[in-house]
Parts: sequence; C-alpha cells; structure tokens
Amino acid sequence: MKRNLNLIYKESIDDIDWKEVPRLLELVGMGFTDAEKHRISFENSFAAVFVFDTEKMIGLGRLISDGIRQSALYDIAVDPEYQGYGVGRRIVELLINKTPGCNFILYASPGKEDFYRKLNFRKMKTGMALFADPHRMSDGGFIEE
Ligand SMILES: CC(C)(COP(=O)(O)OP(=O)(O)OC[C@H]1O[C@@H](n2cnc3c(N)ncnc32)[C@H](O)[C@@H]1OP(=O)(O)O)[C@@H](O)C(=O)NCCC(=O)NCCS
Repeated sequence: MKRNLNLIYKESIDDIDWKEVPRLLELVGMGFTDAEKHRISFENSFAAVFVFDTEKMIGLGRLISDGIRQSALYDIAVDPEYQGYGVGRRIVELLINKTPGCNFILYASPGKEDFYRKLNFRKMKTGMALFADPHRMSDGGFIEE
C-alpha cells in the first residue's frame, strides 16, 4: 500500500471546498467548469462521495437518481497519485449502495471501460446521448457516429 494513507470517505456535501472539484477533475483530464457550477451539480445530485487523504481531496463521485428505479454515475475521479489502490471501486460501490436495486448507467472515459467491467457494468448496445457540446465529446472520443 502506498505510504501511510489516512483515507476518509465523506458521503455529505457539507464543508466542501468547491474549488477542489474542478482542480481534481482537471488533474485527471476530465471535463470541468467553474467551482460554483460544480457546487450546484453536487447539491442537486442524489448522493455524493468525496475522498480525502487527511485534508487533501483525492477522489470524488456523484449519483443522480429518481431514488427507486434509475440512477446515473458522474464525475468519478481519483487523483493519479492514489489510483490503483481501490479508491475508485469504493467510490462506485458507496454510490451504488445509495439506490440498491436500481439500473445504473454511465459513460466511461475512453480507456476506462475495463474499470467499470470489473464492477459488473456492461456496454450498452443502444446508448444514445444528446450532448450540450457534441464537438467536444466527439473530439474526446465519446461519440460513435
Ligand atoms: C478510473 C478511475 C476512477 C479508477 O480509480 P482507481 O482508484 O484507480 O481504481 P481501483 O484501484 O479502485 O481499481 C478497481 C479495479 O479496476 C481496475 N482498473 C482501474 N483502472 C483501470 C483501467 N483504466 N483499465 C482497466 N482496469 C482498471 C484495477 O486494476 C482494479 O482491479 P482489481 O479489483 O482486479 O484489482 C481512475 O483511474 C481515474 O480517476 N481515472 C481518471 C478519470 C477517469 O477517467 N474517470 C472515469 C470517468 S468515466
């Protein structure tokens, strides 16, 4: 195990420094916007997980859901220095446990599909998306046609 980790999994959005969210998303190469928009997107989500090494935010994820049938995972990210130690798996499992029995969908970043396969996700044959910025998503390798 990496160094002496003191990982804290926080399942609440209280006292979050929202500037840390775009910092972490940018660090892992994911889409990000200003801190205020991230605050609103987390506040309007069904569940959230933040991971800290002592006080440093090193992981996050959120779930949007109707709470009973359908859920979707977004913004799953782990600081590169902490990848490969089971943090991403734990984030996804904690979020899934918030709406047991639901269907869960997500779109993986290109190259990350096997991470989700290990968590029992399967590729959809008919997934369709209407993206706000289709050119960016096309350039990022998210769109097939
Ligand atoms: C994808 C990501 C969240 C995985 O987090 P992580 O903490 O490194 O993953 P874990 O250590 O929990 O890995 C769980 C399992 O998945 C495997 N795994 C992790 N990343 C993988 C990858 N890119 N490809 C294949 N397998 C992978 C691990 O080897 C591990 O397997 P094991 O249970 O057999 O040991 C992390 O690499 C990340 O933040 N990447 C950049 C951002 C990103 O692309 N996020 C996904 C957006 S959809």
